[in-house]
Amino acid sequence: MISAIRVFDTTLRDGEQSPGASMSVNEKLVIAAQLSKLGVDIIEAGFPIASKGDFEAVKLIAKKVRKPIICGLARCNKADIDAARDALKPAKRKRIHVFIATSDVHLKNKLRMSKEELKKKVYESVKYAKSFVDDIEFSPEDASRTSVEYMIEVAKTAIAAGATTINVPDTVGYAEPDEFAERIRHLREEIPDRITISVHCHNDLGMAVANSLAGVMAGATQIECCVNGLGERAGNASLEEVVMNLKTRKDFFRAQTRINTMEIFKTSKLVSSLTGIAVQRNKAIVGMNAFAHEAGIHQHGVITNKKTYEIMKPEDVGWEGENLVIGKHSGKHAVMEIISRFGFKVSEKQLKEIMGKIKDLADKKKDIHDDDIQAIALDVLNKLSEKEQRIKLSEISVLSGNRITPSATVGLVIDGKKKLGSAAGVGPVDAASKAILSITGPEVKLREYSLKAITGGTDALADVTIKLEDKNKNVFYSQAVNEDVIMASVQALIKGVNKTLTAKSVRRK
Ligand code: KIV
Ligand code: ZN
Repeated sequence: MISAIRVFDTTLRDGEQSPGASMSVNEKLVIAAQLSKLGVDIIEAGFPIASKGDFEAVKLIAKKVRKPIICGLARCNKADIDAARDALKPAKRKRIHVFIATSDVHLKNKLRMSKEELKKKVYESVKYAKSFVDDIEFSPEDASRTSVEYMIEVAKTAIAAGATTINVPDTVGYAEPDEFAERIRHLREEIPDRITISVHCHNDLGMAVANSLAGVMAGATQIECCVNGLGERAGNASLEEVVMNLKTRKDFFRAQTRINTMEIFKTSKLVSSLTGIAVQRNKAIVGMNAFAHEAGIHQHGVITNKKTYEIMKPEDVGWEGENLVIGKHSGKHAVMEIISRFGFKVSEKQLKEIMGKIKDLADKKKDIHDDDIQAIALDVLNKLSEKEQRIKLSEISVLSGNRITPSATVGLVIDGKKKLGSAAGVGPVDAASKAILSITGPEVKLREYSLKAITGGTDALADVTIKLEDKNKNVFYSQAVNEDVIMASVQALIKGVNKTLTAKSVRRK
């Protein structure tokens, strides 16, 4: 018999907890729509109590994405459960995911609760959640460092209060496959068959996928995972890896998912572009090298028969290793084709702007790759409206060299009034940033700055992402691309300061 495995995607919740992966409400909606196309069974859309942005994202996804079950996370308290209930209101199919830590170390140091008190809290909270929603998942956080006996007692308490899925999280990525499987086997023996067992594994020791699959072998029928293996710290089990293991080794696992694997590559690209977290080239399934053969002997083998060195067909995951090379003579159809591959939708006006930027770039740089186009498209899509651009750059000049201290003079137009600022810095980007912040004042602070060259070569597009903080500790992210590193930095900074002024923030948990 082949078992049906449910894929519970938590890219928008645990995945967003990856340092630097925060997404706007609209970006989350775009990803949720793609996850639905990919065929995931459940989308954990966020932790509604955590922030206004999380609440709005869960609500919007619940309203617009109708195929998968939409899930919201809640701790064991009424305020969290109320927030999840309210955010999930528009959903066609909904789930509340209630959790509390059960390991000794958490009980003693974090919760300061006895084991009996915790069980009472679990019972009351699950019962409360159940009074609003029928589909309730319960997680004993840090399960893999909880004694199996106590974990099962707590699971039974949650089931008595109405939980329909028991999720077993390896919260700190501590488990090894055999012992994790043993835990799941034991749980399966102790709880009714109608209850789904789920696994949620973190990758601190690089075991997240192996532990999840060991869980399936032991009776779990739901896997919690993230696209590209995103997630808190070292990440969660990677969706594409668990899915392709089950598909490629169906003979071994005797299990299958409902995932349309041809959508995997596109989903990976979309998530990586919207989170700004690049996929390493040699990442299994979705890395640029995943299906590329370099050694002559391998090339000869695959030319004769692909099966010599390929256990999966690249087209089965929608992999596109070869980039379409775009130059100044390319038309908008080729550009449109690349843009839609990334899952972006652009208007005619935006396409015109993208084409203009590509042609400008093509005048300066020989080859333009998919990644350049993606960055330019994202830059145009994330452009602030005229009203949101209270600050505009009017001029900039930068001096740098090996015998002088780098310095910059910047002219900004703020609400129609021109202001000039100058500063010295450790380098030209630092000097330009300080010159801008000398005009905009001390209320906005630059917290993080990251620079990425989109493609190789000294003529690569510079992609700058920054994190700003205003005086109320609200956090704002912004990004800009330009062929000039200094201009990309200045544009990202001005965009970010404009965001702080119009307070379009999503506060990090
Ligand atoms: O890792 C974890 O324990 C979690 C829970 C909220 C399920 O993410
Ligand atoms: Zn987790």
